[in-house]
Amino acid sequence: MRAVIPVAGYGTRLRPHTYTVPKVLLNVAGKPIIAHILDSLISHGITDVTFVVGPMGEQIEQYVRLRYPSLRAVFVEQTEPLGLGHAIWCARTTFNHEPIIIILGDTIFDADLERFVHSPTSAIGVKEVEDPRRFGVVEVADGDIVRLVEKPSDPPSHLAIVGLYLIRNSRLLVECLEHLIAREIRTKGEYQLTDALQCMLDRSERITAFPIEGWYDCGKPETLLETNRFLLERSQQSVMPPTNAIVLPPSYIAPTASIERSIVGPYATIGDGAIVSDARVANSIIGAGARVSAVVLTGSIIGNNATVCGSFHTLNVGDSSQINYA
Ligand code: UTP
Repeated sequence: MRAVIPVAGYGTRLRPHTYTVPKVLLNVAGKPIIAHILDSLISHGITDVTFVVGPMGEQIEQYVRLRYPSLRAVFVEQTEPLGLGHAIWCARTTFNHEPIIIILGDTIFDADLERFVHSPTSAIGVKEVEDPRRFGVVEVADGDIVRLVEKPSDPPSHLAIVGLYLIRNSRLLVECLEHLIAREIRTKGEYQLTDALQCMLDRSERITAFPIEGWYDCGKPETLLETNRFLLERSQQSVMPPTNAIVLPPSYIAPTASIERSIVGPYATIGDGAIVSDARVANSIIGAGARVSAVVLTGSIIGNNATVCGSFHTLNVGDSSQINYA
């Protein structure tokens, strides 16, 4: 089975990082987001992958070709991010009517993929959320999806579409996408996959709801850090303790990073070649080649090769004084 991974969005919510690095190449818990997704696909025997790329797509292609030489990867371009539906439409010639799974490039799943890909019907991964108005939402009867709505103001249920889809009848999906594009049918300005799936339902395709236990979004700074915490907690890799520093688990420190006179963790990811000195870093992602010194960082994302340098103070403070660096 082929996986189609749309990665052509601008990633505006993760600027400034996404000005120079595509979102899927941001490091979370020791490897890029896309590597988590590909490792999971490969472990389930899926090695045919179409990437729909946009700006900086060549960085993604370079990474995938270098790190996953055995993957049968195809790259197609979406020149303008006109929506998820449009991204899949751009990939249509690569799947030629075969069943496909679609996975959003900025979402990591903890799901029974084995059972998912063997579903006899088309299926959509769903999870119950408190406020479904920000998501595509499904209405379900006896496990079958009977209606889909994109970001509804009056949601028909609390079941949000999480970004994992199995499409058995990909020929019908392409027909429905063509229908939307030919008639300029957009929701919130974009050609939505949700609308194409509703069109499939209207044309009698059976689509079932597949509950997903773990759904870890990487689309915003706070969700990227949350996913970093979750993945570090789950992997609990042992880290070689540096000689003059303390590492509080769970944390990931690249073997080529250097940590000196610092306390790192919990929930720190330190990239390749980064140098952390005289610092305290927790719940943060430090990019490759970054330099962090004499600062206390928490809830931070530091880009590759960036420098964050604090300072020490010399004080001569009398009794009962109060100094606040807030
Ligand atoms: P998002 O809705 O998160 O959009 O797309 P985005 O551009 O990545 O991020 P923001 O909203 O600007 O911060 C979910 C997934 O679908 C892809 C994105 O690359 C991401 O992997 N996508 C979205 C496309 O490939 N093309 C599109 O037109 C839209």
